[in-house]
Amino acid sequence: EWWEAERKRQSPEAKAIEEAAHLIRTSDNPVAFPTETVYGLGADATRSLAVQGIYRAKQRPSDNPLIVHIDSLEMLERLLNPAPAAGDGEGTVAVAGSTRNGIPPIYGPLLERFWPGPLTIILPNPPGSCLAKEVTSHLSTFGARMPSSPLARLLIHAADRPLAAPSANASTKPSPTTAQHVYHDLHGRIELILDGGPCGVGVESTVVDGLCDPPAILRPGGIGIEQIRLCPGWEHVCAAYDDGSLGVKEVPRAPGMKYRHYSPKARVVLFEVGSREHAVSRRLRKDLEDTAVGARSVGIVRTRHWKQGLELLPDEELKEKITPVSSSIDCLVRFPIVVGGPAGSTTTKQVYDCSLGADVESIARGLFSTLRALDEEDVAVIYVEGISDRDGDLAAAVMNRLRKASGTEVKAI
Ligand code: TXA
Ligand code: MG
Repeated sequence: EWWEAERKRQSPEAKAIEEAAHLIRTSDNPVAFPTETVYGLGADATRSLAVQGIYRAKQRPSDNPLIVHIDSLEMLERLLNPAPAAGDGEGTVAVAGSTRNGIPPIYGPLLERFWPGPLTIILPNPPGSCLAKEVTSHLSTFGARMPSSPLARLLIHAADRPLAAPSANASTKPSPTTAQHVYHDLHGRIELILDGGPCGVGVESTVVDGLCDPPAILRPGGIGIEQIRLCPGWEHVCAAYDDGSLGVKEVPRAPGMKYRHYSPKARVVLFEVGSREHAVSRRLRKDLEDTAVGARSVGIVRTRHWKQGLELLPDEELKEKITPVSSSIDCLVRFPIVVGGPAGSTTTKQVYDCSLGADVESIARGLFSTLRALDEEDVAVIYVEGISDRDGDLAAAVMNRLRKASGTEVKAI
């Protein structure tokens, strides 16, 4: 109703959504839009050419399938129960009218609890499916998600198409949580970004597979494993991703989980939870002094326990030397540190220091934008204070993204 009123009134928001929806229906160029997790790059999931446009814009490997975003269970039911081919039906969503549900019952309790929201479920792709083959990368299943972001759902509703959408970053980069991030990665490649402000969750959806026994989590994300375990049928859910976290030894089953991911230009060094400040400052000084590393500046990303400036400068000295850095995030500061150079000389280098806050929600929300902001300052290495995988619902997702971003460079305590 709100939407119909806005549309009648032709408010700027309604006009922007209509323009985006029009592009989705008619153009082969994808449109970026906000969701509660990260920004997505959306195209009509039923048109091959449109979906190819996503892979082109992102430069994404084509064996990595896309999530199909829907605005309602009716839209999902139409996808699961395609109307028999009727000659002219090609390339369009099957007509409404089927009342058979087709959603495997195991998902019932999850959908009731977590949809709309940051949860993606794996479903069988039915014979005669109207999804473009590029969406599933030839798998016999597809991932579906109903976002809780009203803007995302309005766009799907206005386009009247299921939207295939990966995160709207250039492939391998940290996912975008603001429209500016999308612009940075994709300007010149796409025509339109719907700006809905910063994303509330900040990490992608949890991907679950209930078609296997026991059911599995293919990617940790916005909904925590403990929450999922509380649902009937999901008590024995297992983690089917390998990011080196304790007790998980699995070949990744979500194709996307095997790729380099979430990586800023800078090298990321992740310190596991409990690592002490002095271990970090020692490593940091060594990197700054090492002429082979050649770092002019480094970044520190603190979470729960590390103190500003670590042990690099005494508190009193720090106060005078700190400069706020004008960048897209407001908690980023810079201070100089003097390090030993070749033949007894000294040089001044810069340390960029930032706190994501202590609670896991704010850590998740700020993670990708902080990595991106440090990249803009051109730091050579980023040291990140890890958290425990079990420390709150989003913790496994945060640590998973950090382990991917840091490659093999994980420091034990
Ligand atoms: O929060 C999100 O999920 C965001 C927003 C935009 O909705 N989207 C997102 O999409 O993260 P993307 O493409 O970056 O990640 C999709 C993940 C990949 O790891 C992919 O391999 C997995 O889902 N996936 C998609 N379809 C699958 C399938 N049929 N079987 C197994 N894994 C699948
Ligand atoms: Mg992605």
